[in-house]
Amino acid sequence: MEKLPVKASFMVTVADSGEVFRCREDETLLAGMERLGRRGIPVGCRGGGCGVCKVKIEAGSFSARVMSRECVSAEEERDGIVLACRVKPLSDIRLAVLGKMKKNVCP
Ligand code: FES
Repeated sequence: MEKLPVKASFMVTVADSGEVFRCREDETLLAGMERLGRRGIPVGCRGGGCGVCKVKIEAGSFSARVMSRECVSAEEERDGIVLACRVKPLSDIRLAVLGKMKKNVCP
């Protein structure tokens, strides 16, 4: 039987709430966050167009797919602000939630 390749997974810390979740290298930060089962994680288009899943990566490396400039300006992107539905982890990550997400994640 053929063995499935093992995917690396990383620990992602939500700076605002201290919660930690595991996220595989082949899934988006938003998908990992959803598994936290936390009520109120805003899930919008999942395609980088609506901006509800905006986060700031404070530490760690990641790969990001194209994000709408209407959601993330070039300046924000330089500051590590990304859309969680477009980003996959390449290392352990520490992130802060922004915008709509913040209202729901922070007590
Ligand atoms: S869910 Fe719409 S931009 Fe991420």
